[in-house]
Amino acid sequence: MPISKTAAALATALSLATIAPASAIDDFFPEFGNEGIDVLHYDLALDVKVSPHVLTGRATLDIVALQQLSSFTLDLAGFDVLRVRINGTPAAFSRVGDKLEITPASPIQPQRRFKVVIVYRGEPTPIQDPTAPGDPDYLLGWFKYQTGTYALSEPVGASTFYPANDEPDDKATFRIAVTAERPLIGVANGAPQSIRAVSNNRREFVWEMDEPMTTWLATVHVNRYAVRQDVSATGIPLRLYTTNATPRADIAGYEAVKGMLEWMTAYVGPYPFDSYGQIVVDDPALYYALETQAMSTFPVGAAYQSIVTHELAHQWFGNSVSVKEWRDLWLAEGFATYFEVLFPHRYNTRAFEAEMQGLYNFAVRTNLGSAVVERGDQIFSNRTYVRGALTLFALRQTVGESVFKRIVRAWASQNVNGSVTSADFIDTAEAISGNPDVRPLLDAWIFQQPVPPLPGASAIAA
Ligand code: ARG
Ligand code: ZN
Repeated sequence: MPISKTAAALATALSLATIAPASAIDDFFPEFGNEGIDVLHYDLALDVKVSPHVLTGRATLDIVALQQLSSFTLDLAGFDVLRVRINGTPAAFSRVGDKLEITPASPIQPQRRFKVVIVYRGEPTPIQDPTAPGDPDYLLGWFKYQTGTYALSEPVGASTFYPANDEPDDKATFRIAVTAERPLIGVANGAPQSIRAVSNNRREFVWEMDEPMTTWLATVHVNRYAVRQDVSATGIPLRLYTTNATPRADIAGYEAVKGMLEWMTAYVGPYPFDSYGQIVVDDPALYYALETQAMSTFPVGAAYQSIVTHELAHQWFGNSVSVKEWRDLWLAEGFATYFEVLFPHRYNTRAFEAEMQGLYNFAVRTNLGSAVVERGDQIFSNRTYVRGALTLFALRQTVGESVFKRIVRAWASQNVNGSVTSADFIDTAEAISGNPDVRPLLDAWIFQQPVPPLPGASAIAA
């Protein structure tokens, strides 16, 4: 939780609203999240039956009250809630839409740390994707398909499988235990800690994510999976989960991530998590990849260098360094797109510059608006991806490759496990470069509508 919000929450604690207001300006999805609490850790025990499709969950949340709480809400879509306890004592609760409102026996004082246990059960159901409002083909969260299930939640799908404070700047550590019937296996974020038999035919797979993670990056997959393991030259364990339906030819495409990880580490700095994984979902309905933390998810047919690099780059940019507000998502997608373009041309600067020039021509032709967007249905647009990448390229053209690289490395290292805004990026770029042109340049690229001129290659001093 950022200091500014904590301070604001403390200020409002004095005038005590019971349920915290949703954050004020720029909140694209105001129905989600609760500014009055800071979740530190989610311990999720998820028992998954694929058919009939039933999830029985026991979620234990470590929470800090940011204000006095006579009650508070979590996001939970669907499910029957069977019981709720706070520090071991039963607590009253009610459901209003996709909110679970919990009322402790007595109000919780500001800054108190407490533990909530929620037991719930039901058939998980994906919810409408608010980035494509009204389009029933765009759903979010937990899906069942053929023999398995998976969960992809960007931006606000977490509540389809666990009670969450579903807002981007409340990061927490996670332990996810998935129980499923043999021969299915359960995969989640990070690294597998243990597997044990809980009955004759059911096994529990425990996963831990010890670095803070945003709620939407949490993922769970249940299916028959084969795993391939490797270790990068920098000592990062790599895992690739595939099914029988994963085309053999795609395996090498995914395994190429090893070299990308080594190159990214040399360019940007240490890989931010303890391990990296990739998992392939054979659901023909899935049409995009997602950078689910330390375990990226791919649809079938996405084993391209560009996509594999893009999701890997997100581990630094978007996951470790995550956005406080969705409007700034270019800080994730712009960086991932930049590295997706740079990686194949890493030994050929001219080819890289030519490709970025092509993107620039596209931006001019389409009059592509600012990198920061105004509405929730614009967060996956070319403004976020293409103008975001061009913003970085314009910065590189202005300060030169070596200073640009210093900015990128400082940005990644100073904000490890953090939450950031566009203003933070401008500050870092200005401070590292010491160049007075940088602030107006980035201001125009990030916030102003017209596509600014692209500083020429002549400006580059390597
Ligand atoms: N963050 C993903 C990527 O660029 C894209 C997610 C698209 N999500 C969606 N709900 N349409 O790798
Ligand atoms: Zn992306």
